[in-house]
Amino acid sequence: MLGIQPTTAGWVRLSGGNWISYAADRSGATQRWPQPADPRHHQPRLGQTDDMPAPGLTDGVVLLRQWQAADADWYADTVRDPLIQRYTSEPPTLTADQVCAAIADLADQAQAVGFVICDATTGQRLGNIALRHDGKIGAVGYWVAASARGRGVATRALRLLSDWAFAALELSEIRLWTHVDNAGSGLVAERAGYRRARDHDQQRTVKGQVWNTVGYIRPAPDPATCHPPASPQRSQTRGVDDEVESLLAEQLAYYRAHAPDYDNEYLGQPWDRCLDELPITGDVLELACGTGHWTPLLAARARSVTAVDAAPEVLTLARQRARDLPVEFIQADVFGWQPPRRYDTVFFAFWLTHVPPARFAAFWSVVGAALAPGGHACFLDSSSRERACERMLPNQTTPTVWRRLRDGSEHRVVKVFYSPAELAAKLAELGWSASIREASVDLLVGTAQPSSSDPQWSTP
Ligand SMILES: C[S@@+](CC[C@H](N)C(=O)[O-])C[C@H]1O[C@@H](n2cnc3c(N)ncnc32)[C@H](O)[C@@H]1O
Repeated sequence: MLGIQPTTAGWVRLSGGNWISYAADRSGATQRWPQPADPRHHQPRLGQTDDMPAPGLTDGVVLLRQWQAADADWYADTVRDPLIQRYTSEPPTLTADQVCAAIADLADQAQAVGFVICDATTGQRLGNIALRHDGKIGAVGYWVAASARGRGVATRALRLLSDWAFAALELSEIRLWTHVDNAGSGLVAERAGYRRARDHDQQRTVKGQVWNTVGYIRPAPDPATCHPPASPQRSQTRGVDDEVESLLAEQLAYYRAHAPDYDNEYLGQPWDRCLDELPITGDVLELACGTGHWTPLLAARARSVTAVDAAPEVLTLARQRARDLPVEFIQADVFGWQPPRRYDTVFFAFWLTHVPPARFAAFWSVVGAALAPGGHACFLDSSSRERACERMLPNQTTPTVWRRLRDGSEHRVVKVFYSPAELAAKLAELGWSASIREASVDLLVGTAQPSSSDPQWSTP
């Protein structure tokens, strides 16, 4: 997941500039950058380790550690990635020597900090995150290497750094900006506790071009609710979120193990004909494509198909099924995935009922970010009549069922049944206009388009 402030994502010093390419005065933009800090305010030297736990900040999945000279080649190579070039101010000609110089300067910076985002288990480098501040207001930028996107890396890193900055630096607010087309980055910000701040939207000149950027802010947590004794509301929210994450992990593990048998679900089913009534056209994005049952049927009506799934085992089978067809497969977690472009159709079958209610809005943001103006989201899914065939777990916040595999193992899987009217109403709340019907073959068949008043479509 790429999530970058367009003018601030790197911390490499450019000639005559600060070491983070943050400064609005250099870009010619109208941003009011925080003024030099009040000397009375605590000013830790952020480039040094004294303010950080060793070996860095971690949530157990990602680790934010200090940059070392040995990282310079990786940084210079990684920022050549087309999406990093498209959405950040990283210069295309950046060299490892320039990165090395910036790393050396970093240790002397009192008002900025930059970290390598690493895998907490393997230490593998995943991305970059940087924060600059004036003692009161901070600004953060980040990017994730192409190979590490789609796993929630940026969200975790942004959450970690922001939480730390509020606690250690006592900032009152942290801001970030994303390129207007970089919807995935906005999703990262929101998942890390930031909210859209339209009054911070601005035009900036970046690499010789005028960029429209959108602003987000995260205010400091209210001390009354974030210091011990912990607010019950807050810990409850964290608990629910952890439970959703672990359910999603278990669900994915189930589909990975189920891959060799999955296609048996289709034996004797008359479902394929439901596809005929959907407006599948142009460039199609298929989310949670599984073993690719629908992929060739989509390809027959599409100019191209891009098919995404998080499970490598199902993707192997899907690739075999769609060989010789114009299909590109991508392994990614749809909840953290940033669509690299827009599509005329976004299709998903037997997936929406596996999306926890707590992730429903985030999922539809991904769909919205992927859909070209005038395009359609199209979906097929189990109707509520299927509920009778499932073993629902009682009293769950997230509707959950037990599924058993051939080896006898039991897995929890999210399963949210909707009536057409319920689903259409839920989508309307998010600014989608949906048409959904229950087909005689016990499937929900639906299309949805953003309502014209939805703000996500008011940006060019
Ligand atoms: C019920 S299957 C549907 C497969 C296919 N769409 C079909 O209709 O046959 C759900 C699929 O979602 C995939 N999946 C589970 N969690 C995912 C995630 N977080 N991101 C992307 N795909 C995921 C699973 O690997 C599985 O292939």
